Amino acid sequence: MNLHDIQQLDLADPLRSLRSQFTIPPEVIYLDGNSLGAMPTAVSATLKDVVEQEWGVGLIRSWNTADWMRLPNRVGNKIARLIGAKDNEVMAVDSTSVNLYKALNVAATLQKGSGKTVLLTERDNFPTDIYIAEQIAQQFGLRVEMVEGDIAAAITGDTAILLLTQVNYRTGTLHDMTALTATAHAQGALTVWDLAHSAGALPVDVHAANADFVLGCGYKYLNGGPGAPSFIWVNPRLVNTCAQPLVGWLGHTAPFAFTTDYVPAQGIQRYMAGSPTIFSLAALQCGVDTLLAAEPLGGMQAIRRKSLALTNLFMRLIDEAKLPLTCITPRDESIRGSQVSYTHPTHAYAMVQALIARGVIGDFRAPDILRFGFTPAYTSYHDVWQSVQHLIAVIEKEEYLNPAFMTKNAIT
Ligand SMILES: Cc1ncc(COP(=O)(O)O)c(C=O)c1O
Repeated sequence: MNLHDIQQLDLADPLRSLRSQFTIPPEVIYLDGNSLGAMPTAVSATLKDVVEQEWGVGLIRSWNTADWMRLPNRVGNKIARLIGAKDNEVMAVDSTSVNLYKALNVAATLQKGSGKTVLLTERDNFPTDIYIAEQIAQQFGLRVEMVEGDIAAAITGDTAILLLTQVNYRTGTLHDMTALTATAHAQGALTVWDLAHSAGALPVDVHAANADFVLGCGYKYLNGGPGAPSFIWVNPRLVNTCAQPLVGWLGHTAPFAFTTDYVPAQGIQRYMAGSPTIFSLAALQCGVDTLLAAEPLGGMQAIRRKSLALTNLFMRLIDEAKLPLTCITPRDESIRGSQVSYTHPTHAYAMVQALIARGVIGDFRAPDILRFGFTPAYTSYHDVWQSVQHLIAVIEKEEYLNPAFMTKNAIT
């Protein structure tokens, strides 16, 4: 494959118009949208308006006049379109960690008295998922079991809750949400799915999967900005069965009645606790809109097709270059998310730093992973080609041996 072929791929790309929605420095090839999505250009003017008009002029009236109070619902309704949920089923609120706590707490409450003893998850699930699972297990007298191999085989009659991140943050392996949920249900278990690395990256259908609790991250593939709110969906067959543990006033059925007894709101509204973070939600809305802009171009199916084409091309070019890296991402595209990860035993961190110095931004995950995320809305085939040329240069010229690239930053 030569540069001409790559240019043809970009010319034929049905999603190429989406890139103009983002502000990305021209000298940067951004392969870290799986960690922090690029900035939608619309964010600046939107936030200026929210600050100067809605807050500055509207003042407290904007809770009504700008419909601030329902912003978590309105953004949630937009996210719903990306994950197969319906209107009024998704709330954009809190962080992923907090939503995980709420979902696991409710799932554990619903399993009380079942005699089930296990909260099952993956050994290399994201740490926040594991930490919160451990705490919930302690509170509810469960035991966390961490699977390393076949997850379906580990689900037994003892499993109370199956907690999985749909796309593993290290390897990029995609789990079959529908099949694993069915296996869990057959054993009487409830499922909690973390979509941090799948919402906005590939088609998700929470209803078709019949999942129980689903949550995800706003600042990765949803392009919501640093610390963007997370989102949460609870299956309608469960949402009203139990109050969530953070029983704040905005999850109350009538917050402005100011009564002192807690009566949870109906539906996903009860998953609110405190006041919505209006600036962050306004930015997140811009991010989600960049994905909804793909709807007339084929939507999440088209995003998935391009994501696989980008990751396939990246892997193929690296294979051809015969670099001393080990691919830990599945070759089988049916079980691959939208990232590609390699290991290098000694210099993974320095290689990523040397690449960043060349303008190719990926990231490092301890202890030895070089991780590259591909966001179809703003990544071109030419970006992939160029990033591999840079990686080849970093390795062949041993640029990573520069001591400046070996000192670890606090945030990797
Ligand atoms: C799989 C997964 N879950 C949860 C989180 C943490 O999300 P938050 O910072 O919103 O709590 C991350 C962050 O990278 C993640 O990758």
